[in-house]
Amino acid sequence: MTNLSQTALLHELEVVVEKNLDRHLSMAKEWFPHEYVPWSEGRTFDGPLGGEAWSPEDSTLPEVARTALIVNLLTEDNLPSYHHQIATLFGRDGAWGTWVHRWTAEEGRHGIAIRDYLTVTRAVDPVALERARMVHMSAGFHNAHDEEMLHSLAYVSFQELATRIAHRNTGRATGDPVCEALLARIAADENLHMIFYRNLLGAAFELAPGQTMRAVADVLADFQMPGSGIEGFVRKSVAIALAGIYDLRQHRDEVVMPVLRQWDVMNVTGLDADGEAAREQIAAHLDDLERAASRFEEKREARRARQSR
Ligand SMILES: [Fe+2]
Ligand SMILES: [Fe+2]
Repeated sequence: MTNLSQTALLHELEVVVEKNLDRHLSMAKEWFPHEYVPWSEGRTFDGPLGGEAWSPEDSTLPEVARTALIVNLLTEDNLPSYHHQIATLFGRDGAWGTWVHRWTAEEGRHGIAIRDYLTVTRAVDPVALERARMVHMSAGFHNAHDEEMLHSLAYVSFQELATRIAHRNTGRATGDPVCEALLARIAADENLHMIFYRNLLGAAFELAPGQTMRAVADVLADFQMPGSGIEGFVRKSVAIALAGIYDLRQHRDEVVMPVLRQWDVMNVTGLDADGEAAREQIAAHLDDLERAASRFEEKREARRARQSR
């Protein structure tokens, strides 16, 4: 079996995009960022308007919830870079183009809403946040295999679900019902995004099973969260994992497994030799993830036990 070219794949999947775009538009609920922000809590800041400077005591949100909110927001902020990548790869014509623009507009709403909430409630240092945004956006976003569409579709299938879980658990970690409601609303959008991409890659499995299996195996092998370019990301992501907002266990059991199960990866037929090899790689990767997740959980338990002594 010969591999389909990028152009042939785009062409073949166009009808699937159309169908899923319609599905998305019928499922997506219109919502307004301003309705989720407690504006009356806001106060003018220092600077040209002569208000009060931010201080850490302005917010009672747990430290790790603030860290997670910053990571989530910076990830949304970097949108132009993702838009560029997707628009370059999928094109701006027809259903593909309509989807790319629609997706971008929805993601833009997420960044607007989270920033408004953080600024009004004084949850994080607005100066540090702005500087971090400049650094992060100046670096842009590069995905491994970013010139191959099946790899990109596989990546976003997992990534959208990962952001859904991260937003939802961040909301819970804040202990603020207002923030929790906002992030739950955003998480619902991310879920629809995940379904769109997952359905598309599901169709690719029927079209080019071996090629698609290869893409999934490659993407899982070096999966990085989209915010991994954020300054201090390793330190931040360890804190986030220790708090159970996004850790290896969730990554394996709540992100990777459900998506693979939907594609019924272990029962896909018509694989070529490389497709079979890719599937074996996926199975081995799942075992590795299981071991790493268990190890992490044990360490975290031991750490909690030490701290509670
Ligand atoms: Fe988003
Ligand atoms: Fe999304």
